[in-house]
Amino acid sequence: MLSYRHSYHAGNYADVLKHSVLIHILEYLKKKDKPYCYIDTHAGAGMYSLRSEQAVKTNEYQQGIGALWQQDDLPPAIAEYRGLIKSFNDAGQLAFYPGSPLIAMELMRKQDRLFLYELHNTEINILEAAIKRDQRVTVLHKDGFKDCLRLMPPQQRRGLVLIDPSYEMKTDYQQVVDTLIQLHKRFATGTYALWYPVVERQRINELEENIAASQLSNVQLFELAQAADSDQYGMNASGMIIVNPPWTLKAEMEQVLPYLAKHLGIDRQGSYRIKQVKAE
Ligand SMILES: C[S@@+](CC[C@H](N)C(=O)[O-])C[C@H]1O[C@@H](n2cnc3c(N)ncnc32)[C@H](O)[C@@H]1O
Repeated sequence: MLSYRHSYHAGNYADVLKHSVLIHILEYLKKKDKPYCYIDTHAGAGMYSLRSEQAVKTNEYQQGIGALWQQDDLPPAIAEYRGLIKSFNDAGQLAFYPGSPLIAMELMRKQDRLFLYELHNTEINILEAAIKRDQRVTVLHKDGFKDCLRLMPPQQRRGLVLIDPSYEMKTDYQQVVDTLIQLHKRFATGTYALWYPVVERQRINELEENIAASQLSNVQLFELAQAADSDQYGMNASGMIIVNPPWTLKAEMEQVLPYLAKHLGIDRQGSYRIKQVKAE
């Protein structure tokens, strides 16, 4: 039974990093006219009201997109990210936050294709309503881990797969690695973006070790911490592991992450990591 709802977390510091990286990769794919395929294995509800009961309960977005809303010194990639979020909000008031499917839809061209997976019975309905009807987009009420394999390699032979589970089940930490390896076997030149939370550091050490020991190559990691690692339950940091990143991504993150650590960290505890997990 799935209980995670992204509406409690939409627009938080983890989304800022995840969605900035997503925008960078999709914009890079758009440098060529050739079509690309974007697959979101864990799409969520697509659009979130920051006035909802859930968002107001945690207020997480305040230390995420909220803290960047009025800043006038943003690095270019964060300015681009904020500009996209602003396009979903009227009159400069921050009231809505688009999830990864709506961000990808906003950026796609007529030749590109999207496949969005969502398993939760409520979230899938909200997602379908947010997408409306669009022939370029396929929404699937299926297990994204399993079903995405049948799309590989995509017809377009260019593309990005975002793997963004909720890690409600501890088996997700192993399943993400197994899924990455299976996808990569079928489509070795694709770009893969895996999101992870740092709740217990040991799990992330193991995740990195498993990726390093696998046949995957050309893997980079970008992590943003709001606070130092702790034994208390809760997420203090999160990151993105990218297989076959655009060559431009690392330099961009070298500008973005110090800024985000400074502005989104709590009590000056913000920090970041950039790591080449596997060489090209
Ligand atoms: C972290 S949220 C996704 C957020 C979204 N990617 C974004 O950035 O806006 C994870 C979502 O995955 C869904 N989910 C969990 N297991 C799934 C599975 N096996 N296949 C597809 N969706 C799943 C959950 O219901 C939840 O809505």
